[in-house]
Amino acid sequence: MGLSGPGAEAYPHIFSRGKIKGVEFANRCVVSPMTRTSASEDGLVTDQMAEYYARYARGGWGMVMTEGVYIDLKYSQGYAFQPGIATDEQAESWRKVVDAVHAEGAPIFMQIFHCGAINQGNNWVEGSISASAVTPVGEQIPRYRGAGTGFQTPREITREEMAQVIEDFGHAARRAAEIGFDGVEVHGANGYLPDQFLTVHTNLREDEYGGPIENRVRFHCEVMQSVRDAAPDIPVGVRISQTKVNDFTYVWPGGDDDAKVIFSAIAATGIDFFDCSAHLGLDHVFGTDHSLSGLAHRHSGLPVMANGKLQDPSEAERALVEGEGEFVAIAKGAMADPKWPQKIAAGETPYGFDPGMIMPYATLDCNEAFWAENPDGKSKTTVEARDAAEGAT
Ligand SMILES: Cc1cc2nc3c(=O)[nH]c(=O)nc-3n(C[C@H](O)[C@H](O)[C@H](O)COP(=O)(O)O)c2cc1C
Repeated sequence: MGLSGPGAEAYPHIFSRGKIKGVEFANRCVVSPMTRTSASEDGLVTDQMAEYYARYARGGWGMVMTEGVYIDLKYSQGYAFQPGIATDEQAESWRKVVDAVHAEGAPIFMQIFHCGAINQGNNWVEGSISASAVTPVGEQIPRYRGAGTGFQTPREITREEMAQVIEDFGHAARRAAEIGFDGVEVHGANGYLPDQFLTVHTNLREDEYGGPIENRVRFHCEVMQSVRDAAPDIPVGVRISQTKVNDFTYVWPGGDDDAKVIFSAIAATGIDFFDCSAHLGLDHVFGTDHSLSGLAHRHSGLPVMANGKLQDPSEAERALVEGEGEFVAIAKGAMADPKWPQKIAAGETPYGFDPGMIMPYATLDCNEAFWAENPDGKSKTTVEARDAAEGAT
């Protein structure tokens, strides 16, 4: 059922129906993936998480995307209490989330994830792996239970491990499809393993995965081919960004030429959509007339989820009108008010985001608890506030 009201009339693109590979969205609003580190220690989903995700569906979102979910019991987990889909038991634990979201009438996609070098909490192995043995810049993220200190130096991933990770992304996608997820997105952005291959300073390889952009994008392409083949019947896509959770300044050195290679090569694997995260907003990039998501659409011909500072509905509407995206993915605005679509459609004002809402993880009504404790709307957080305001993970 579509939402109606004065806001729905004022923002007709936001509230128009959408579709990706046969999956229907009641509107163009997508809950952008948000890590909540709220699973059990061994990566099982809790009842509380099911209620957390259901709240978004109840609030009128056209689609709910999960947080990043790790794919193996080796090096993919990046955060303590992160959920996994590496085992049948972990996969099965997601069923209550799928059922709860479907009961509210929304589709749900899973974001699958490998942290690579950005590892600050792994329940299964010591150490980390990456495209090359380069210590990540930046510090562990306190809001995800990180120590606030630097990251360990990863070991260079072997060719055998690369083949296994590619296969494991496929296994994860198949498991997600089997338990009822409507679609799958690979986290190919924000500085995690696939992005470590794409990025010049974390990929010093001299084989066919390093060097020119045609080589650096090869790992993404092989992962997406594996996911496509493993989940042929549901929409599959990939999240891409320039910036990283540990580096907000990185820009693709080849500009639009890199964009052309990246988006067209990945699209050629037969995927169904891109999700472009630009946490600083949808400003035009590389001297073109488009944001990164606009370029993704133009270079791939695929539907794109645009993301970054789109919680103001007039910005979200503009992104859709100008063809910078076919969908708008919203993170902090969704966390602040899971009823964002319903309230915008009704002409009401949603709660605004405050960094204090990020803690304490995916508890029930975390935003309402925040407002109850902070009636003046002022957060008590400090370090977390600073980190959260950047918000790109
Ligand atoms: C608490 C929090 C957790 C996040 N976790 C993820 C994640 O698991 N996967 C991901 O791709 N992006 C993650 N992000 C980034 C958001 O999806 C989004 O790209 C970013 O916040 C910018 O969008 P916004 O301006 O709507 O908040 C996270 C952001 C926040 C605030």
